[in-house]
Amino acid sequence: MASPVTRTTSRYLCQSCGASSTAWEGRCHVCGAWDSLVETLVRRAPNGATRAVGRAAGGDAPRPLGAVASQPVERLPVGIEEVDRVLGGGLVPGAVVLLGGEPGIGKSTLVLEVAAGVARAAGGGASNPRGVLYATGEESAGQLHLRADRLGLTDGLPGTAIHVLAETSLEGVLGAAETAAPSLLIVDSVQTLTVDGLDGPAGSVGQVREAASRIAAWSHAHGTPTVLVGHVTKDGSLAGPRTLEHLVDVVLVLEGDRYGPLRLLRTAKNRFGSTEETGVLQMTGVGLRGVPDPARAFLGPERRGEPGVMVAPVLEGTRPMLVEVQALVAPAGLGMPRRALVGVPSDRLALLVAVLARRCGVDVSRHDLYLSLAGGASIEEPALDLAVALAVASSAADVASDPGTVACGEVTLLGGLRPVRGLERRLVEAARLGFDRAIVPAGDGLGGVASGLRGPAGDLRVVTVTTLREALAELRASGAEPARAAFEPVPLG
Ligand code: TYD
Ligand code: MG
Repeated sequence: MASPVTRTTSRYLCQSCGASSTAWEGRCHVCGAWDSLVETLVRRAPNGATRAVGRAAGGDAPRPLGAVASQPVERLPVGIEEVDRVLGGGLVPGAVVLLGGEPGIGKSTLVLEVAAGVARAAGGGASNPRGVLYATGEESAGQLHLRADRLGLTDGLPGTAIHVLAETSLEGVLGAAETAAPSLLIVDSVQTLTVDGLDGPAGSVGQVREAASRIAAWSHAHGTPTVLVGHVTKDGSLAGPRTLEHLVDVVLVLEGDRYGPLRLLRTAKNRFGSTEETGVLQMTGVGLRGVPDPARAFLGPERRGEPGVMVAPVLEGTRPMLVEVQALVAPAGLGMPRRALVGVPSDRLALLVAVLARRCGVDVSRHDLYLSLAGGASIEEPALDLAVALAVASSAADVASDPGTVACGEVTLLGGLRPVRGLERRLVEAARLGFDRAIVPAGDGLGGVASGLRGPAGDLRVVTVTTLREALAELRASGAEPARAAFEPVPLG
């Protein structure tokens, strides 16, 4: 019996309504959305083909949930502590990891180090001819060699066990992977690949998605872990890895200020582990390295007593870290006041500025406002609110903040404070790093820390407040006299 033929055609699918068209149009003829058509490969089975389920079809028949055995996941450690931590112990066979990040942030450096770690762990060389296959479409093999040289990876095991292939055709990469049967496949980057028979330039959504889904299918079928590198632009551009997230098993994002040394490795998705872990790395002259004390990495130099500075104990997944918030309120020129933020969501700041003005009488809505987190950190958790609000108010009033104080809590629209999760863990870390006062929301989450904490350098006093107003009063009570400001200070409420 002839097997049914599956035909593959290229279609343009509207990304907002799903309508299909045979040619590209600037505007979807069904829903009217502009610029929403994306070329996509469609595989169609012959008419009337239905797949049988069960043994006869070579697949699994449905089974009761209780009878499904869960298999322990074996892992291949990559040998870099912070990366293994984020992966949940190492790479899982057959799993596809997407490593996203802005250009220049250090993705290629990281995957090369991962390749070396796996090569070392797998034994490499003659005893393990499988090695690691590194397909590079971004850089030539020569450029990759230069980088490897800088990282000290051209000699020894990594030098023999990492196989470099400069290739941008998907078929070429998969063909080489089929022959080499590597213990790890790296594709740097998925945006450089083109798929045979598919129109559209490398990096377009259709190409990127098709290439990634074929690599994922190959990887799952062979049990070979794969790392795909993908660029994301600041606005998370369409052709970027965002569209691939559902195709892969793990999504890691490398973030940070590319002009500074610190990098955060975050998990956006992990089918085989928690998304709670965050790795802290720093870019050195010889590659990415772990940071000795990540909790203090984002504290900045010791000059915290100045106006506009407040430290927040944040939780990055399960890891407590102290992050310095710096705010500068300045007289505005003509027109709209400027708002320049680094590392803080702009809608959060807009909310805090409104709450400060309406609930606390600290009106900076017509001032220019600059805000950043030390070390290029970027934090989304609402627990950062209180420190941001206090930093803004302290800069507005030109009142020095107390260098020994930390503050955290989510600010509500009514000017109240909501408790934060894991308060005890945050405060234990603050006490360890020598802070002596914590301004935190009153509530149930206080646990054993209500009466304060003993740190190695002294005690941490816990001050509970229920509103932002009370927190400001606490700041005012301890603040130094307002300095002679270059502009009219805005009173602290
Ligand atoms: P790279 O890994 O090429 O970034 P991406 O692949 O994300 O585009 O790294 C970019 C920067 O890192 C580059 O500007 C040089 C710097 N770098 C170091 O500081 N130390 C090193 O050891 C290496 C290899 C790179
Ligand atoms: Mg690169």
